[in-house]
Amino acid sequence: MAQPRGQWSGKLGFILAAAGSAVGLGNLWKFPYITYDNQGGAFVLVYIGAVALVGLPIMIAEITIGRRTQRSPVGAFRILMAGRSGGWFWSGLGFLGVSAGFVILSYYTVVAGWTLRYTWMALSGQLRELAAQSGALDAYFGSYVANGGAQVLGTGIFMTLTIGAVYFGVRSGIERVAKVLMPVLLLILFSLAIYASTTAGFGEAMTFLFRPNFSELTSQSVLEALGHAFFTLSLGMGAIITYGSYMNKKCSVPVAALQIAALDTVIAILACVVMFSIIFSFDMEVSKSAGILFTTLPAVFFQLDGGGIIAAAFFILVAFAALTSTISLLEVVSSYAIDELAWSRRQAAMTMGAAIFVFGVLNALSLGANDWLTDLNLLGASHAGLFNSLDYLASNWMLPVGGLFIALFAGWMMSSKDTWAEVSQGHDGSAAWYPAWRFLIRFVAPVAVGAIIFSIIFLGMEYQ
Ligand code: PHE
Repeated sequence: MAQPRGQWSGKLGFILAAAGSAVGLGNLWKFPYITYDNQGGAFVLVYIGAVALVGLPIMIAEITIGRRTQRSPVGAFRILMAGRSGGWFWSGLGFLGVSAGFVILSYYTVVAGWTLRYTWMALSGQLRELAAQSGALDAYFGSYVANGGAQVLGTGIFMTLTIGAVYFGVRSGIERVAKVLMPVLLLILFSLAIYASTTAGFGEAMTFLFRPNFSELTSQSVLEALGHAFFTLSLGMGAIITYGSYMNKKCSVPVAALQIAALDTVIAILACVVMFSIIFSFDMEVSKSAGILFTTLPAVFFQLDGGGIIAAAFFILVAFAALTSTISLLEVVSSYAIDELAWSRRQAAMTMGAAIFVFGVLNALSLGANDWLTDLNLLGASHAGLFNSLDYLASNWMLPVGGLFIALFAGWMMSSKDTWAEVSQGHDGSAAWYPAWRFLIRFVAPVAVGAIIFSIIFLGMEYQ
């Protein structure tokens, strides 16, 4: 603990790093396909409501907890509970977050590895050849995920890049990568959006996304929107507590949280605009799950002028977004070792990264390469395979439970005086938001998240 603690260079450094954590496969892959499955319009509105009323308050709570204690989750809760009973429970909550980081990273790097492969295939022309034969993209994707060697290779390369950033620390690693990748990501996405606006399907995409039809909305959609708000904003597991712990006291907590949540939402919606405009231009059916990104889209890209460039730009965009997210996941696990076990940063990044990679290999082999791992049925038949079981465990259990208790902690265990002492530092604007935040974090967020957990347990619903 004697090591000097890293700090972002300033407000922009924090915003870009935290937005980098938030913007990831959740925005570019999951959000478009759940929006499609839930018929667009009304779902998009409910999702924006979930981000504003539940996600944003919990993000403010996480930044506040991190910046107040200057610690990653386990130590943060321990410090805030010092001298009170029940500290073990809340440190356990911190530990749940660290475990969630470990679990999510172990399968997230597998999908992230695919984006590298597809970028390469777009650049080398292989993707164009596949797109020219009907059914070839689907067949390729199926055999690619079942190829153990290729899966382990992609996962390994992606983990190496992730370790590289965490190894160099808060400012010279994580922040530096985010400052390069995030602007490039925005530039690519905006260019693709401008291009999309010239395609024939643009009008239909806008209607689909922005004309709500509430009769299509089910309670399942509302839950999915809420569950997704956690995943996409990196909430419920301490990534934002950890990043908040490196934040300067001169920055405004609520303004930063608002900017991060807004950026994350704009990017998710722009991704939908791009994908649906292109897909609707050709009257394509959107297949579920991974299909939209790796089979449907490549097929349509090559029907457009300059398809190779668009495909390459698109997969680079997804790879960049994934990398800034995997960095934050590894940072949560590493900062636990740095803060609590007094490891050096380099040792923590390499050891934890290697351990997660070893575990990740099991996920990489559970998509067809190894029969036992592929059929492993840990948490119910609809999540067969280690990869699916862990995604289900993290998205349906670890993040909502973590988020619920973080909200309860900030709203009920910390006094209003305490949270105010932190959030008033660096915030010059109006204080009118504060009572609204207190109300949301004490009542609205716990009830909403409690409803997700209740429906998962008692109604058998699940968030993808
Ligand atoms: N928010 C990331 C995404 O949308 C995923 C993530 C979850 C990252 C939790 C960090 C912590 O892809």
